[in-house]
Amino acid sequence: MAKNMNSVGLFLAISLIGCLITLSHQETAPCALKKYNTGLVCVCNSHYCDYLDDPTPSEEFVFAAVSSSKAGLRFATTHGQFNLYKKYYIFDHDQLLGRSMQAPAGGSAQIEVDREKRWQKTQGFTGSISDSIEHILQNFPKTLQKHIYQSFFTELGIGVDFMRNLGSGVGEHYLKNSNAIFGSWERGEQFAHALLQNLEKDPNERINCNTLLDQEHGDAPMIANTTNHNEVYKQPLFYTMGHFTKFIAGGSVRIAADNKNPDVDALAFLKPDNSVVVVILNRNSFSVDVGIQDTYRGAVLFKIPPKSIHTVLYV
Ligand SMILES: *[C@@H]1O[C@H](CO)[C@@H](O)[C@H](O)[C@H]1NC(C)=O
Repeated sequence: MAKNMNSVGLFLAISLIGCLITLSHQETAPCALKKYNTGLVCVCNSHYCDYLDDPTPSEEFVFAAVSSSKAGLRFATTHGQFNLYKKYYIFDHDQLLGRSMQAPAGGSAQIEVDREKRWQKTQGFTGSISDSIEHILQNFPKTLQKHIYQSFFTELGIGVDFMRNLGSGVGEHYLKNSNAIFGSWERGEQFAHALLQNLEKDPNERINCNTLLDQEHGDAPMIANTTNHNEVYKQPLFYTMGHFTKFIAGGSVRIAADNKNPDVDALAFLKPDNSVVVVILNRNSFSVDVGIQDTYRGAVLFKIPPKSIHTVLYV
């Protein structure tokens, strides 16, 4: 795909090729959570940043589920198998810490995945770097600049394709000119919900928002601390976006993922390597039993926490 790099992007890309090589040994590292009254973010600084190696299994009948939630899961991975007649509990972050009881349960959804029913191909997701990012970044340590770039534009991060001058797309209308709300799950959820609905109509829906802003200039997947110049906060939006961009490669085809529960959104794609990606969004404030019934692989059942998003991967 032709990429339309401008000078800022080109500068970043070239100056970061070195880092991609030096950091290529980097592997999965969990989110460093930070709590605000308004929610939870993941902190990156020049010494640390969270990453996730693509956990797509290569064996048949095996799945990996990647989960994020309002309560603090950020790309948490669960592995398991189809047809074991057991329920996979995706425990929420506060449950894992022993700080909360089981969330109230209610509802269920059954997702019928059929890779023989196909729609159009996607081109993948593109994101832009605005000119303001260069201005923000120049006062940040080089290693943190690299983490920012790597987090957004590489496969260890959320794998957005770099592009300049996007037209309109999901994200633009409500993120621009809105103050940064630290850790707002609702914004991330709204974005994922809108994207799920739009992708159903048009698989080439674009994501259009700034990659990084300082907190005075609006909301974005990443917010830079322009007071200490050594911290960047990954908003929930970064992860809810990543549940799509990281896993649905360009050239993927949307396949049927029928589901009758209107409060649980589901969408499935078949990747060019013939692996399946199912994205599931639970907007309810209670946990939900979700079954996937795949025409090739059979059945798997999950209990997913309130206010959470999941990407289920299998071949
Ligand atoms: C930015 O850094 C300053 C100085 O370390 C700190 O006081 C402030 O809380 C940070 N801002 C955010 C949004 O965390």
